[in-house]
Amino acid sequence: MALVGIVGWRGMVGSVLMDRMQAEGDFAHFEPLFFSTSNAGGAAPAQAKNERKLVDAGDLKALSRCDIVVTAQGGDYTTEIFPKLRAAGWKGHWIDAASSLRMKDDAVIILDPVNLPVIKNALARGGKNWIGGNCTVSCMLMGVGALFKAGLVEWMSTMTYQAASGGGAQHMRELLTQFGTLNAEVRALLDDPKSAILEIDRRLLARQQSLDAGQTAHFGVPLGGSLIPWIDKDMGNGVSREEWKGMAETNKILGRGEGFGTPAVPVDGVCVRVGTMRCHSQALHFKLNQDVPVADIEAMIAADNPWAKVVPNQREASMRDLTPVAVSGTMNIPVGRIRKLAMGPQHVAAFTIGDQLLWGAAEPLRRMLRLLLEA
Ligand code: HSE
Repeated sequence: MALVGIVGWRGMVGSVLMDRMQAEGDFAHFEPLFFSTSNAGGAAPAQAKNERKLVDAGDLKALSRCDIVVTAQGGDYTTEIFPKLRAAGWKGHWIDAASSLRMKDDAVIILDPVNLPVIKNALARGGKNWIGGNCTVSCMLMGVGALFKAGLVEWMSTMTYQAASGGGAQHMRELLTQFGTLNAEVRALLDDPKSAILEIDRRLLARQQSLDAGQTAHFGVPLGGSLIPWIDKDMGNGVSREEWKGMAETNKILGRGEGFGTPAVPVDGVCVRVGTMRCHSQALHFKLNQDVPVADIEAMIAADNPWAKVVPNQREASMRDLTPVAVSGTMNIPVGRIRKLAMGPQHVAAFTIGDQLLWGAAEPLRRMLRLLLEA
């Protein structure tokens, strides 16, 4: 039985990954070896079989024993350990949630319902490095990948509404704490039906603007009752790193663009952090290279994979099925608001949502593990 090292299984993405692996019965197919950066020698989780003690995640010898390593430990760990492990001659498969290795030539961004041929091709050529994609990109392609696969997309603009969880667990806590602080500020006024809404608004704004450094330590500015139109680093040309990933990763996942000998499909837009918990939403604008009827677009999306769900472009259905609250914690990727835009018959709007901890992080990793184990 293959020995699979699991690193970072206790963090937020790692915990979601463990839950999904447990739910899908993945542990029946391999011998797990659990690593830890802080508790080597401690007890491994209940899924352990013969290897019941946690092993130091920096122990290259122990990592080298593994046929496959799956890590959700984060980019710093990958940057430190991966090159050393390869330099020591380890030839196993590395499956990673972090972005550090994503754009390397010898890495495949894994999203098998969308790019199984790209994965299989890399496997046949001896590929060993399998990296989960940016959550926004993965969720988007799970929803509308059909249009790219059919070669219909001339370009796509994506305007995102990204959840607190994209920043990490502490960011989610900070958002909720801010909501509580803001509510407490105006609670008495809210409870009084005769109070003036503009007084509530004035008090609320004053409280938002007076949140101190400790109360905004993770996002840097208030997010509760506000939004932040910049995610990740500044690329130095007016583009945020999150926005840059949109085009770079979409094309790499699809096996297009630089390195594949085909022109890249332009993908661009503005990425915005909003006060939702764990679902990333995106308003998409496609310029198609032909006039495709909306019904055909809907049929292609619905048929593409078992998780993409077309939501009829109607008020009730959109309000019920096309919100982060409806999608959180599910594997569904609803795609709705599909309609032709006023710019012309080749311009199509869509709105899509995905749980960024599931399809955006954990799920592609566990599916890649199963693919390797079944190869
Ligand atoms: N960069 C994403 C975000 C998270 O901040 O929402 C994971 O790709």
